[in-house]
Amino acid sequence: DRRPRVLSGIQPTADSFHLGNYLGAVRQWVALQETHETFYCVVDLHAITVEHDPKLLRKRTRVSAAQLLALGIDPERAALFAQSHVPEHAQLGWVMQCLTGFGEASRMTQFKDKSSKQAQDRITLGLFGYPSLQAADILCYQATHVPVGEDQRQHLELTRDLAQRFNSRFGKTFVLPEPYILKDAAKIYDLQDPGSKMSKSSSSPAGIVDLLDDPKVSAKKIRSAVTDNEREIVYDPERKAGVSNLLVVLSAFTGRTPLQLQDDYVGKGYGDLKKDVAEALVEFVTPVQARVRSYLDDTAELDKVLARGAERAREVASRTLARAYDRLGF
Ligand code: ADP
Ligand code: NA
Repeated sequence: DRRPRVLSGIQPTADSFHLGNYLGAVRQWVALQETHETFYCVVDLHAITVEHDPKLLRKRTRVSAAQLLALGIDPERAALFAQSHVPEHAQLGWVMQCLTGFGEASRMTQFKDKSSKQAQDRITLGLFGYPSLQAADILCYQATHVPVGEDQRQHLELTRDLAQRFNSRFGKTFVLPEPYILKDAAKIYDLQDPGSKMSKSSSSPAGIVDLLDDPKVSAKKIRSAVTDNEREIVYDPERKAGVSNLLVVLSAFTGRTPLQLQDDYVGKGYGDLKKDVAEALVEFVTPVQARVRSYLDDTAELDKVLARGAERAREVASRTLARAYDRLGF
């Protein structure tokens, strides 16, 4: 396969993907299958960097995989797997930790954010070393491109630095991955607080649309979205964050640009827009949920899909690790 290679992962730390995960990431993963050799993993090793419940983790790993499949990841085309099934991630992760400086890791803003919310003794070395493991995730596959959001740019920069450092100390081994700016990726904001991004860690569940929520509940959340005191439906993310967020969501589901939608809604009110967004969402999630249920009804088959994905991933990752180990003197 001569196509450029992509690696991306998603954490199994919630019961459902939210709309931001889909419109900001997974939708583009689906599209990339057409043009790139793709490796997609459910990053369960990253999920234990904070305290976790094993039963819940196992369930969420399957639910994550089922959602990826239901949303269009095709296991015939992409290698879809759980990170822990490919031990090379942890093995190369250790190597990357040994190349990462303490100061360098301390400067990661995501670590600063996550650790500032925790008591000292709850901050694990795993959380601190997270970006080094993430570097290994990428470098295992010699990925040329990594789809990243703004929040992941610093980690990708670290990955490049680590690859470069390894190459210059031990000989050329790793491809330096480029950030891949996702075409059509939409940043989705919290429905109740449209100044912040929709996130599973956000305070109000009313602001988050989970794909696996009861569609009626999601429709209601959209109808209750915070907007502003004006009346015109105008796409202006700075001044009219709430309305613009709704236009972006509708745009993703209809293929009309936010500006085209602005024209479509001349003379109409916020209620009309919300109704249409809610309808589009329900229409989208209903069949997705049915597919997720059917994948989860047959976990034996789902586990087989993941096992096959892990096998494909290991073919590549084990070659990379063997080369790296050899360079290291193992
Ligand atoms: P969260 O921010 O809810 O913790 P993750 O960090 O697990 O979500 O994100 C998984 C993927 O979804 C990442 O690629 C991330 O960039 C993307 N993503 C998360 N939230 C949003 C959002 N509100 N809008 C667009 N993309 C998002
Ligand atoms: Na995040």
